[in-house]
Amino acid sequence: MARKIIVSNRLPVKIKRTENGMTFEPSEGGLATGLGSVYKEGDNIWIGWPGLYLEEESEEQQVITELQKESMQPVFLTETEIKEYYEGFSNETLWPTFHYFSQFAVYEQDYWEAYLRVNQKFCERIVKVANPDDTIWIHDYQLLLLPSLVRESLPDITIGFFQHIPFPSYEVFRMLPWRKQILQGLLGADLIGFHTYDDVRHFVSSVIHLVGLPASNGVIETGNRSVMVDAFPMGIDFDKYADTAHSEKVAEIEKTFEEALRYRKIVLSIDRLDYSKGIPQRLRAFELFLKQYPEFHEQVTLIMIVVPSRDQVEKYKELKVEVDELVGRINGLYRTLSWAPVQYYYHSFPFEELSAFYRMAHVALVTPMRDGMNLVCKEYLASRTDGTGVLILSEMAGAAKELSEAILINPNDVNQMVGALYQALTAPEDTQRVAIASMMATVQQYNIHHWVKLFMDRLAYTKEKQNELI
Ligand code: UDP
Ligand code: G6P
Repeated sequence: MARKIIVSNRLPVKIKRTENGMTFEPSEGGLATGLGSVYKEGDNIWIGWPGLYLEEESEEQQVITELQKESMQPVFLTETEIKEYYEGFSNETLWPTFHYFSQFAVYEQDYWEAYLRVNQKFCERIVKVANPDDTIWIHDYQLLLLPSLVRESLPDITIGFFQHIPFPSYEVFRMLPWRKQILQGLLGADLIGFHTYDDVRHFVSSVIHLVGLPASNGVIETGNRSVMVDAFPMGIDFDKYADTAHSEKVAEIEKTFEEALRYRKIVLSIDRLDYSKGIPQRLRAFELFLKQYPEFHEQVTLIMIVVPSRDQVEKYKELKVEVDELVGRINGLYRTLSWAPVQYYYHSFPFEELSAFYRMAHVALVTPMRDGMNLVCKEYLASRTDGTGVLILSEMAGAAKELSEAILINPNDVNQMVGALYQALTAPEDTQRVAIASMMATVQQYNIHHWVKLFMDRLAYTKEKQNELI
């Protein structure tokens, strides 16, 4: 039977080493949480890195056995590969470039070579497990060379690629020394998907300028194959969030949280610790809000959940220090015996507790400098089962294209963010309900199941068209 083989750098679970041996925990990040709900259908499998360097072969064997039960297959990375391919090329070269932080990008030949080697390693694993009628679905910027590598080994197989982060404008992308190899790597796929039409436009423009191939109406002619490119805005597992928000367990957690916070108005933000998320800018806006509106002192609390991420990478370490200092400064200036303006958590939370936070938040403050999509804002909407709430959302998030009833802000404009906070915290309930109902309907309709079906149907159609031309 034809299967989907999902391939991404990170598996939806990660190994943690504890006193009692190895444990498995859910991975954070939109790719893992989004696809984690759907990959198990049929005989599908997921190939990826389990998130930790293992020294012993016996440990590797144990991981293989455990993951197999959940239809996953690990690709193990060495310490050097983690440093050069994952932290290095993926997160010090591609991540900053693709999020318009080129000034942070490192151009290091060793990192590039490791990136190529690890993409080849993933390819070898795919070739070992794939049947000719399987569909290979490759995800994200850590594996941009993989589509062409797989195509060389399995010329007729169906390959889809989806990028979860933005594709930058040609003027930014062209700064990469390995720009042409990267585009050629991607063009091994039959269908290439992005979250937004802007990403599609930027990618096609880079292909035209840098590879010199003709493209029209989202089809790139490579000479022997047509490659289709399109926008597929990713959704979430709406029912899972809505049902959990309804559950008794979450209502109990919410009650405990609310009592502890003395029923104050809650502004919520949830992100991985990443400079693309605009965390310091958000804190400065909240600080200015408290300065300008003293009537909100002791009335409002910013709950800021920051999930540790890529903490061996220099820019992430620096950001941690900056965020710690800002939170300390704001709480130092404004706190009282019974009130801390910012409740800052530097760790992840179990699913039900996240759900309780979404339920109790009067306002979700989602202000990335750049974000491919941003699923947190969609999860907030799906959890607003009582119909109230306000979403403040950055224009720079892919989600802003779909959620135009949010209060849209430019994260570089601190005064606009202060105004948005005031507007959100004083919004009449009927205004809240109108906007939430409309956005919730969008998130419900364009959910993760819809997204997978749309992508897979288009991939099958692309392959059919190619076969008709042979
Ligand atoms: N998340 C999580 N545990 C936490 C906090 C967040 O699993 O403690 C999840 C969150 O629910 C969301 C994902 O991490 O699904 C973040 O995805 P998003 O698209 O917003 O940003 P990304 O991290 O992919 O850049
Ligand atoms: C974003 C990326 C994913 C990545 C996730 C977490 O969502 O698009 O590919 O898995 O961040 O980052 P990490 O480096 O921990 O895998």
